[in-house]
Amino acid sequence: MLGYSYRDYYGIILTIINIINHILILFVTGYLLYLSGLKLEVLNVHVGLCVVGYVLLMSEAIMVLSEENLWSRIISHRAGNHFHWYLQCLGTSFNIAGIVVLFKSRETHFKSIHGILGISSAAILSFLSLSGFTVLFSVKLNNLMRPIVSKCIHNFLGITCYILGMIALCYGYRKKWILKYTGVGLVNLGTVITGIIIFITIMRPVRSLVNQIKSISY
Ligand code: HEM
Repeated sequence: MLGYSYRDYYGIILTIINIINHILILFVTGYLLYLSGLKLEVLNVHVGLCVVGYVLLMSEAIMVLSEENLWSRIISHRAGNHFHWYLQCLGTSFNIAGIVVLFKSRETHFKSIHGILGISSAAILSFLSLSGFTVLFSVKLNNLMRPIVSKCIHNFLGITCYILGMIALCYGYRKKWILKYTGVGLVNLGTVITGIIIFITIMRPVRSLVNQIKSISY
């Protein structure tokens, strides 16, 4: 017990929470990929691509920036930023592909809450990539916008886009496609697990967003 400070215990708790999040992410992604793989149909491809894009890649892209993240501890901060960028780009490609596949197979579009949330998230994704560039070149763009402001905008858009996409996923759980394989009990469990994933994943970004807003307003 001797030699451990309050900060050490706090770090250990955050690491355990991070490990739990990875397990939940792998569980949700794995199970939905298993269901999607049962048939080769447009809807299965939509679910598979969007789930890998949002649950796996976007969550990991956000978590790679946290110091307690398990797998990125061994890499430098700079390499972590690069991974954030690669995972984000890959996730965006999967999400857009998943939405386009379904869009092309339907005659009416964005009529459900699920579809509206999903397309809103995808629209923010495009701005997000643009705001990512402003963060990357924030020092050079200093005359145009303070680096802290561009970081704050990027952070806010990232959190909003992630939450909208993940809530779209929760509405997706209520579709007949899932209910025919599972049941209401499993769907409710999936919704709770997804809520926990959202909460753990955005914990750090929300904290830094609050700090950024505070330092902009002082
Ligand atoms: C994060 C994950 C997801 C995102 C971002 C997403 C996004 C979208 C979007 C934007 C549409 C509208 C396409 C159009 O109207 O042309 C849509 C439709 C649809 N999605 Fe998803 N989706 C996701 C996951 C799922 C899941 C897990 C299911 C489970 C079955 C699902 C089932 C459907 C169905 C049945 C439609 C067509 C009916 C409707 O528009 O509500 N999606 N999705």
